[in-house]
Amino acid sequence: MRGCTLLLHSLIFNGLLLLFLQLQGANGDNPYRFFTWKVTYGDIYPLGVKQQGILINGQFPGPHIDAITNDNLVISVYNYLREPFLLSWNGIQQRRNSWQDGVYGTNCPIPPRKNFTYILQVKDQIGSYFYFPSLGFHKAAGAFGSIRIWSRPRIPVPFPPPAGDFMVLTGDWFKRNHYDLKRISDGGHKLPLPDGLLINGRGWNGYTFTVDPGKTYRFRISNVGLTTSINFRIQGHKMKLVEVEGSHTIQNTYDALDIHLGQSYSVLVTADQLPQGYYVVVSSRFTSPVLTTTAVLHYSNSRRGVSGPVPRGPTTQINWSLNQARSIRRNLTASGPRPNPQGSYHYGLIKPSRTITLANSAPIINRKQRYAVNSVSFIPADTPLKLADYFNIPGVFNLGSIPTSPTWGNAYYQTSVMAANFREFIEIVFQNWEDTVQSWHMDGYSFFVVGLVYYIIKRTCTG
Ligand SMILES: *[C@@H]1O[C@H](CO)[C@@H](O)[C@H](O)[C@H]1NC(C)=O
Ligand SMILES: *[C@@H]1O[C@H](CO)[C@@H](O)[C@H](O)[C@H]1NC(C)=O
Ligand SMILES: *[C@@H]1O[C@H](CO)[C@@H](O)[C@H](O)[C@H]1NC(C)=O
Repeated sequence: MRGCTLLLHSLIFNGLLLLFLQLQGANGDNPYRFFTWKVTYGDIYPLGVKQQGILINGQFPGPHIDAITNDNLVISVYNYLREPFLLSWNGIQQRRNSWQDGVYGTNCPIPPRKNFTYILQVKDQIGSYFYFPSLGFHKAAGAFGSIRIWSRPRIPVPFPPPAGDFMVLTGDWFKRNHYDLKRISDGGHKLPLPDGLLINGRGWNGYTFTVDPGKTYRFRISNVGLTTSINFRIQGHKMKLVEVEGSHTIQNTYDALDIHLGQSYSVLVTADQLPQGYYVVVSSRFTSPVLTTTAVLHYSNSRRGVSGPVPRGPTTQINWSLNQARSIRRNLTASGPRPNPQGSYHYGLIKPSRTITLANSAPIINRKQRYAVNSVSFIPADTPLKLADYFNIPGVFNLGSIPTSPTWGNAYYQTSVMAANFREFIEIVFQNWEDTVQSWHMDGYSFFVVGLVYYIIKRTCTG
């Protein structure tokens, strides 16, 4: 019926975890949407100084993609850079061409002056996502953009249609260009504190969201940064969380939301305050100093600008954030991409067949700053892994080339691949013993978060 290889392949170059399922699903008669993208260098000034950005069709951030559940997207990308370029489709499940997910190791980068056509199907998906370039710190130069997958017309959505739908791509930003950042890492150093934060490619009050009084709007906020968790809030306004990366949530109301690297959240905001300008604020979390930037929420019936102090974010450390994360729950009776409720799949009753424990670390290997999982820092093979798997090419990778629990030995390079069985349910425990927040990218696969634990580590100093 279907191809049935499930490889758990941990790609550690950027601290990513991949879990992918190869399914040749039929795409049926669903509509096709075609895109032609030219990727070039271009000058950008997001923090007031000129930088070499990476633009898509001349735009920074890149163009956004609108699709409806089950649409086929045909995206022809022409690489006019002097370096290989690879786009990663964050959160797109890619059941049709799972090797085209845009992750190094399964998908080849596009060589300079060449083109490649990604064919993706947003099968059984709804919600807010984004794409980004996944090689050579390109994300620090742009080429990211939002993806919105709308529900099909007859599928119930658990909130009234909003009056408008805003995309908010936000995150940390460096004035150094992407070559310099790579040099820092290759020189054996961690990246410095970013120089600032951006909202939709702009710095302080550089972007305006215009709302009509009394109406309710959807804001889709994605953290597209490189290193830093952020907090998002709107002066004087409450946010009702309705969706997180394709799942409708219990609709809790928040004053401020922590959004970690790679995450996308949808909130509803009602313009129910006095007509004037309000700050839309993003600040960095767990950094010293705290970086802050703002955009403007503008009431269409007002001429008054923003005023008053910029509202402060949470100053507490990780506990606040973890407690908030625990409060975010899938609404099991709301519909998802299909009319049946999201909870009709009784994942609480599933018995996992085994447990994998993954611990991230930041070792120096051959004097370079690298990132590792269970002591393995991923290096891609010459042959993409999916091709090697499909054509049974020996010597490209070995199953079991990464331990399934931490060994705490010296870190080493490896083309690491873990095996798993088709339709197997695996429990994965992520352990972070570092003093920075780690986010994981579960590429192209569905998963359920079943628990979050925070330990205070008591260090004993000797000598
Ligand atoms: C590359 O572009 C050419 C010219 O537009 C087109 O004919 C060809 O099919 C493209 N190749 C890929 C792999 O997208
Ligand atoms: C969950 O979704 C259902 C269906 O839209 C809705 O009736 C219910 O109020 C929601 N529950 C919560 C707690 O948000
Ligand atoms: C964090 O929360 C846990 C349990 O909720 C508590 O035991 C711990 O003391 C808290 N730590 C801090 C630093 O507040």
